Amino acid sequence: MQSSLSKISLFLSEFMKDALLYARYCGVSPFRDVGSSGSYKLVIESHAIEKGLSLPRPRKLFGRAKISYIVGELRRTTRGNSNFSVQMAAGALLGYKQLHVEQAVSDPILVDIEAALRDATHQKELISNPGTRIITPEHPGGESVLEARFSCRMFDQYRVPRADIEKIVSAAQRAPSQCNRQATKVYVFQSRSKIERLLELQGGAAGFGHLVNNLAIVSSELSAWGGAQQRNQPYVDGGLFSLAFLLACQERGYVACPLNLAVRHRVEHEIRSVGGIPAGERLIMMIAFGKPVSDESIRAAASPRRPLSEVLVVE
Ligand SMILES: Cc1cc2nc3c(=O)[nH]c(=O)nc-3n(C[C@H](O)[C@H](O)[C@H](O)COP(=O)(O)O)c2cc1C
Repeated sequence: MQSSLSKISLFLSEFMKDALLYARYCGVSPFRDVGSSGSYKLVIESHAIEKGLSLPRPRKLFGRAKISYIVGELRRTTRGNSNFSVQMAAGALLGYKQLHVEQAVSDPILVDIEAALRDATHQKELISNPGTRIITPEHPGGESVLEARFSCRMFDQYRVPRADIEKIVSAAQRAPSQCNRQATKVYVFQSRSKIERLLELQGGAAGFGHLVNNLAIVSSELSAWGGAQQRNQPYVDGGLFSLAFLLACQERGYVACPLNLAVRHRVEHEIRSVGGIPAGERLIMMIAFGKPVSDESIRAAASPRRPLSEVLVVE
């Protein structure tokens, strides 16, 4: 009795500490470090523009509110030091401007972009990608499978044969897992009506969801885990498995796009019920995969990487 009570109180206190830590440090906390969360917001909004530019048919003047935010931030931030988020923002604006110049569109927001880019001239020199990059067989994203992988949002109608799905999942099973639990599961859907419903609940495939004919949901069985200290491990193992799945797609000549399942419990429940996934599994992410719309050239979001100095700390 005593030990059950202490286990329950450990559970409650650990989950409560998670909630407090998140509330204290997350990007919308009133106590957050405004500088770093602002920089993340600029990256996120700029990436939304990059994604829009990488769609098969970008909408004219899409993402106006995001553009206004980026323009405002760029004009403000360039007074300070050069940094990755500003370069990414300038790249996204440049790509947006180029798209609309090609389509002979005129709009006051394009004038604002022009002015912001003029202010950020020193950044522009550092921009290697105007929001998107073109991937061709001659110029893949990189030499190794890891470097060549990218998130593709231009899929062909092709349904991946079951034999290839099995090869991809077998390869993904090479991912390490804590104590070799292998609690990760994969559900693959190929019926358009179900995919449509699932992507509607997911919400992050606007502009390309109609092209998805192969959709995986990665989940983790909670029964594999025990004790409060393991509460986040389903996501660690599931995340490693998901990356291995993405790399296995790339290795076998397929393309893929991870799709977040950062959703509320109600939506997770609905996704589980549409997908026939048992209640005892937490959902890790969705992955759209298949053949690219063209073997010749694919436009992808630039998604540049931060300089190593922002990522690596060696003692
Ligand atoms: C967990 C996770 C969730 C993601 N969710 C989405 C999504 O909902 N929609 C989307 O278009 N891309 C999504 N992405 C793709 C990211 O935008 C992409 O991985 C990032 O910009 C890096 O680009 P790259 O994958 O081309 O290297 C997601 C990626 C991850 C890892």
